[in-house]
Amino acid sequence: MSRLAPSILAADFNRLGEQIKELENNGIEMIHVDVMDGIFVPSISFGMPVISSIRKETDLFFDVHLMIEKPERYIKAFAESGADSILVHYEACRDLKNTLLKISDYGKKAGIVVSPESGIKTIYPCLPYADVVLVMTVHPGFGGQKMLEKELQKVRDLCEIRKEKGYKFEIEIDGGVTKDNIQVAIDAGTDTIVAGTAVFKGNIKENIKDLGF
Ligand code: DX5
Ligand code: ZN
Repeated sequence: MSRLAPSILAADFNRLGEQIKELENNGIEMIHVDVMDGIFVPSISFGMPVISSIRKETDLFFDVHLMIEKPERYIKAFAESGADSILVHYEACRDLKNTLLKISDYGKKAGIVVSPESGIKTIYPCLPYADVVLVMTVHPGFGGQKMLEKELQKVRDLCEIRKEKGYKFEIEIDGGVTKDNIQVAIDAGTDTIVAGTAVFKGNIKENIKDLGF
């Protein structure tokens, strides 16, 4: 059974609290929180103050996706601001294994993110330390892009190695999900489907239903 994690990057920030309540009222249990630093990716989104502010208003699970250089510098700050999971890019970390261990030490779920240009095999040595692996199905940095469906092969490969080695991580995808391609992603074996535009553009309640949740 897959779950849907709406990405608040596509929310109307003027009504963020209200829209998060609407997600809750429609059965959503997890939100995806995209943090961008303008260096690892060209855009800048928001950071700890926004997360701590919404943390006061909801018990939803916060899946925090750090698109920032050297994320190891900010694990404590995001853990304390109210993240439930902290996902770091393989490409941005100096020492991925230690960064994952640090996240776990704070009692948070530790995740590895893989961009489209990165091969999946490079992260295999760190899989025993991961609670989540997030496969980017667009180039990180912006919402509203088209899904790169060939990236779903990484999901299939991860399912295989997870089974073979008895690992515990969950598999997540992020980017370009629509009601027309979500089933392919679910069939590939994805546990958590992140969707921004497809949830927030138009009517949230109808969109969640159209996506099958
Ligand atoms: C992209 C972000 C995604 C983004 C997804 O860098 O990581 O989480 O918000 O947005 P959509 O669903 O619009 O592609
Ligand atoms: Zn994301």
